[in-house]
Amino acid sequence: MFNPRGVAIIGASRKPGKIGHEILKNIIEYGYKGEIYPINPKADEILGKKVYKSILEVPGTVDLAIIVIPAKFVAEVLEECGKKGVKAVAVISSGFGEVGRHDMEEEIVEISKKYGMRLLGPNIFGLFYAPTQLNATFGPKDILQGNIAFITQSGALGIALMGWTILENIGLSAIVSVGNKADIDDDDLLEYFSKDEKTKIILIYMEGVKNGPRFIKIAKEVTKNKPIIVLKAGRSKRGAMAAASHTGSLAGSDTIYSAAFKQTGILRAMNVAEAFDWARAIAELPPPEGENTIIITNGGGVGVMATDACEDYNVKLMNLPEDLAQEFRKYMPPFGSVKNPIDLTGQASEKEFAGALKTALKDDRIHAVILLYCQTAITDPNSLADAIINVIKENGKTKPLVISMVGGKECAEAMKKLNLKGLPAYPIPERAVSSLGAYMKWARYIGKI
Ligand code: COA
Repeated sequence: MFNPRGVAIIGASRKPGKIGHEILKNIIEYGYKGEIYPINPKADEILGKKVYKSILEVPGTVDLAIIVIPAKFVAEVLEECGKKGVKAVAVISSGFGEVGRHDMEEEIVEISKKYGMRLLGPNIFGLFYAPTQLNATFGPKDILQGNIAFITQSGALGIALMGWTILENIGLSAIVSVGNKADIDDDDLLEYFSKDEKTKIILIYMEGVKNGPRFIKIAKEVTKNKPIIVLKAGRSKRGAMAAASHTGSLAGSDTIYSAAFKQTGILRAMNVAEAFDWARAIAELPPPEGENTIIITNGGGVGVMATDACEDYNVKLMNLPEDLAQEFRKYMPPFGSVKNPIDLTGQASEKEFAGALKTALKDDRIHAVILLYCQTAITDPNSLADAIINVIKENGKTKPLVISMVGGKECAEAMKKLNLKGLPAYPIPERAVSSLGAYMKWARYIGKI
């Protein structure tokens, strides 16, 4: 499914704006290198590609078929896919279990099983896989490549988040829309991504799982080497009812889900921003080697807020030994503080920040750093971003460093620069602390710290 030699798009439409047309266009334009076979009985050529009347007419190998025709015709083309020797099918079409047509859903699973094919969906927006440059979705074209595999049960939310990750400069290794999960479920994908070199962290938007015991068994194994973040929706009674009519999922008791996540070391995020904040930090940073954390700041207020957040997210601030405190004193005026938060004060320039950061990175007694900046006229955010990037270039990314820059549009631009260099930066300190807290929690679960 992720490394196909050839892809067929059954229902590739001639008309721009129709789903079957846009998926074909994305596959071509994102640069997939394998063979592309549009299938449509009414067309000869679409987007410069030769069109086949049926998949059975395709001369080459088809490992993956994307099916984009009305639900009532899907069973018939699945039989043809089976005969062609297709390995995996992604059924975009809606109109199955989610509208009560469980019989139709069972039928397509049976046909797939008969031919040894795996089925993704139905009721999905497709899949994206960075290593093979395969964007078989009708979402945005310019997905940023990175190390986060994103599995989503919600289609529209998934597509929206694709656009959002581009805006937020978050890189993805894969996106898989699982929809009704008639065959391929989260646990199958967890197994795949746990071995996928490009993927460092797996993020799941989930409304329900089909096979609880199998999910727990696999998740327990996977979290030992890769963190999993789950955004589980349908927590409330009405939310669970909404999930049932959305993807036909049984949202189940939230207490049971919470317990299962806890036992398996899954990090549960409560909203989209939190989920991606954590994923960004974990994807980009090395895991912590210990609990000792310091805050470096030029603002007392943000330092205090971050200290409170450390308590909330179980991030442990260390007391600095005297020799280390002396080192940090070099980068602050006499009225600065080395009590952790290390307050360089409002007059700190990028040079003081760089000096303090270098000290923190070099000393093995410090395991993680939170760097906070309040925009002042003394230090321009862009120069600070450059200084941080240089320090990391010289010293390496040896320990987790989360950054928060509070201020105006110059801060937003500086944070974009940092994020694009793989240095997680957030507009408020709490988001930086919460991301580090999530990483610490996972490291504790696997016994690393
Ligand atoms: N084999 C190949 N092509 C076929 C075909 C077949 N058996 N039957 C029809 N086609 C062609 C059609 O001729 C059409 O091409 P054209 O536009 O060039 O004429 C194309 O396939 C699409 O068929 P059409 O009947 O026009 O369907 P549609 O585009 O209106 O709708 C779906 C198809 C799958 C998009 C629609 O049924 C659906 O399920 N929409 C919801 C999808 C969705 O939201 N999924 C979840 C996202 S989160």
